Amino acid sequence: MATPRNRSSAGTMDRPVLRSAFQRAVAEYWDNERDPVNLRLGDVDGLYHHHYGIGDYDPAVLGASGSKRDQAIIAEMHRLETAQAELLLDHFGRVGSGDPLLDAGSGRGGTSFMANERFGCEVNGVSISSSQVEFANAQARERGVADKVRFHFLNMLDTGFADSSHQVIWTNETTMYVDLHDLYAEFGRLLRGGGRYACITGCYNDVIGGRSKSVSQIDQHYTCNIHPRSEYFRALAANDFVPINVIDLTADTIPYWELRAKSPVATGIEEPFLNAYREGSFHYLLIAADYAG
Ligand SMILES: C[S@@+](CC[C@H](N)C(=O)[O-])C[C@H]1O[C@@H](n2cnc3c(N)ncnc32)[C@H](O)[C@@H]1O
Repeated sequence: MATPRNRSSAGTMDRPVLRSAFQRAVAEYWDNERDPVNLRLGDVDGLYHHHYGIGDYDPAVLGASGSKRDQAIIAEMHRLETAQAELLLDHFGRVGSGDPLLDAGSGRGGTSFMANERFGCEVNGVSISSSQVEFANAQARERGVADKVRFHFLNMLDTGFADSSHQVIWTNETTMYVDLHDLYAEFGRLLRGGGRYACITGCYNDVIGGRSKSVSQIDQHYTCNIHPRSEYFRALAANDFVPINVIDLTADTIPYWELRAKSPVATGIEEPFLNAYREGSFHYLLIAADYAG
């Protein structure tokens, strides 16, 4: 198991995990987050996701009434979120059961457990939310995989894991919290030559202009900083990553948001997402890239 070196629970001996007021605000957001849109969906089968869904929903879930309708919608949204993570795993390339994987910004661990189940690999998850790390490690014990899936209170910009220690690194809706150049420099250090980086993210469409009002509302809601689309490819190229797949998932995620807007766990951010996607100012992208360094 790849383990981070020279770390106390608060970070490296000389550098704390949280380095800026922005990172402290992000950590505080996730430490305090108890949103039913995440917890009630995770309760469906014990896989807790903090990302969105893809694919068409079954309209029959809207036909029931009362609590049966609520439960059916929640189960359907969870199915779409799990489908999103399955698609991300489909882009990990060739993975052997002995290859260590890194989930950068691991939330409550849903995608990490799915990766371990699919590939049989050891997985390290890192998050700057200590309460998420605690939650996810408790899940790992409950699922009987604590020897293979471990979560660490670490900053993905400076993990402390050894050079070339991982075969695959993924980010599932986490890149909007960090500088992409710093992030991909760290991932280049951590990946073996020919290793794979896979990402799903929202990004704004800088081909047609700047950050739209709806995108700014999303930033404000989640305390994040959504990047322009071009920034991903600039930062990847600058750090020796060569994209092999880029998939625009925007049309695939709209049904999820339409269902979420009708759900009992809507938070109010559904309209800005739907507006941004429909007006073309925001994209939902999958990027897979090989490390050529
Ligand atoms: C939207 S959640 C996504 C969680 C998970 N990837 C998923 O799909 O369920 C964003 C995650 O990024 C983490 N995060 C944000 N900035 C980070 C940083 N600099 N280092 C490590 N994790 C970070 C947060 O703590 C949170 O777990």
